[in-house]
Amino acid sequence: MSQRTILTGVTTTGTPHLGNYAGAIRPAIESSLTTEAHNYFFLADYHALIKCQEPERVRESALAIAATWLASGLDPEKVTFYRQSDIPEITELSWILTCVAAKGLMNRAHAYKAAVQENEESGSADPDKGITMGLFSYPVLMAADILMFNATHVPVGRDQIQHLEMTRDIGQRFNHLFGETFALPEAMVEETSMVLKGLDGRKMSKSYHNTIPLFESEKKFRKLINKIVTNSLEPGEPKDPDTCTLFGIYAAFASEDDVANMRRQYEEGIGWGEAKKQVFEHLNELLKDKRETYNELISDPAEIDRILAQGAEKARAQATPLMQQVRKAVGIGPLAG
Ligand code: TRP
Repeated sequence: MSQRTILTGVTTTGTPHLGNYAGAIRPAIESSLTTEAHNYFFLADYHALIKCQEPERVRESALAIAATWLASGLDPEKVTFYRQSDIPEITELSWILTCVAAKGLMNRAHAYKAAVQENEESGSADPDKGITMGLFSYPVLMAADILMFNATHVPVGRDQIQHLEMTRDIGQRFNHLFGETFALPEAMVEETSMVLKGLDGRKMSKSYHNTIPLFESEKKFRKLINKIVTNSLEPGEPKDPDTCTLFGIYAAFASEDDVANMRRQYEEGIGWGEAKKQVFEHLNELLKDKRETYNELISDPAEIDRILAQGAEKARAQATPLMQQVRKAVGIGPLAG
């Protein structure tokens, strides 16, 4: 296969933060604007149900994440941008793949194993306590997401490599049983991808409650930048940029020249108040217009629905015929043949 097909899914939970932007959203959008490959970006809203059973939050997260990607420059004309739940073929394929996937393979999935281990450590009599079939069979749904569009390359974080191996395993098994149908995808792990530190100096992550939301109001954004932990060095004392959370955040959003300039100021003993002011001003300038677009989009969800509906139409033009082929291959369909 010569043409690359790149596919990325984002589970719609929570609100995107600076770390998501620098580590995933920005590189994905940049690459979609510069490659010749087919690009599929989708909102994995059925995956969200695995983690969240509050309907209002499920809906709000999908809205926030769709608006974030669009405001960040995703071009829905250039990529196929859709919502997983708008493509019924995906869940249909997921069942067929469930009937092909080995249960033993799923027993080894990290997310499931971690949940079992937690139960065991807390002394529960039932190792499967609180574990839904959604969590258990989630790698099969992910395989359906990927195989449905014959993706060849899937950019993922390290934690998702195992899911890509499972996808290949399931795809291969299907091809072996029913004839060559699916392309086997490769994981694209971005070794150099940026990891930002959060307010407390640990990795910026929702689970640590230390994030800086990407499109917070200007006032709150300033407040959060001011809350980033530094140390007790006084103005005039030289500071180490390389261990500094604030500097790391700045560096993810500044040009080489600006970073060199900030580094010099650290060496010259810039005060923390002044450094935070400069970081806020720089980031705010960079995000201001996007924030405005984001707010406009959020206040007009029907427009986002329209954009997603167009994406779904493009996606289904692929998914419908492939699904017909799959059904036929497994012997489901009109009895008259
Ligand atoms: N499971 C992925 C995550 O949590 C999200 C996802 C769902 C995905 N389906 C996908 C990523 C398909 C890539 C391809 O990050």
